[in-house]
Amino acid sequence: MESNITWHQSTITKADRHQLNGHKSCVLWFTGISGSGKSTLANAVDYALFQNGIRSYVLDGDNIRHGLNRDLRFSKQDRKENIRRIGEVAKLFVDSGLIVSTAFISPYREDRAEVRNIFSAEEFIEIYVQCPIEVCEARDPKGLYKKARTGEIPEFTGISSPYEQPENPEITIETNKSTIEESVETILSYLVERKILS
Ligand SMILES: Nc1ncnc2c1ncn2[C@@H]1O[C@H](COP(=O)(O)OP(=O)(O)OP(=O)(O)O)[C@@H](O)[C@H]1O
Ligand SMILES: [Mg+2]
Repeated sequence: MESNITWHQSTITKADRHQLNGHKSCVLWFTGISGSGKSTLANAVDYALFQNGIRSYVLDGDNIRHGLNRDLRFSKQDRKENIRRIGEVAKLFVDSGLIVSTAFISPYREDRAEVRNIFSAEEFIEIYVQCPIEVCEARDPKGLYKKARTGEIPEFTGISSPYEQPENPEITIETNKSTIEESVETILSYLVERKILS
């Protein structure tokens, strides 16, 4: 770390922002293989929060790779850096008082654990979006599985690159068993239970 850089303490604290907003902030970290439903659920939760006057935002894998992380590919090292940066951005959003949903495959347990470590225990909510790969492959909303099977996309999670399942996620959603509405309800109830929302 550059020794001439010192942290400037903010005048307005996170607690001040929570008070202004009338709710706390946290990250909803959606993880799961492609097509499991991370983006769908993150946006559905965001919509429900917005409708209830709660300040929230979605950081989505594809969108971030168009800008902030456009220099990164899909090697293990680049995936690690991708997740590290998202973690730091998510932390800024949480500091700004928002409920931020992140929708990244984030296949490596170690990378997710490192992100978890930069938050306090109640601020990081890991949501395992679970769905059998056969179902995801049948959905194939972006036609990626088809390309992965022909080898057109190398290092594809679940096919030619590993996905390490979360061991202790705060929430598990099985998208082949529950509807989008039920899943949103599960997540919102959790936020109320944890007093992030009142
Ligand atoms: N119960 C469900 N919950 C979520 N998604 C569902 C459900 N049932 C069907 N789907 C469909 O599954 C697909 C999930 O695609 P989505 O883009 O959300 O996946 P993703 O996890 O973000 O994938 P990627 O990692 O490639 O971005 C969508 O077409 C969605 O409509
Ligand atoms: Mg997505």
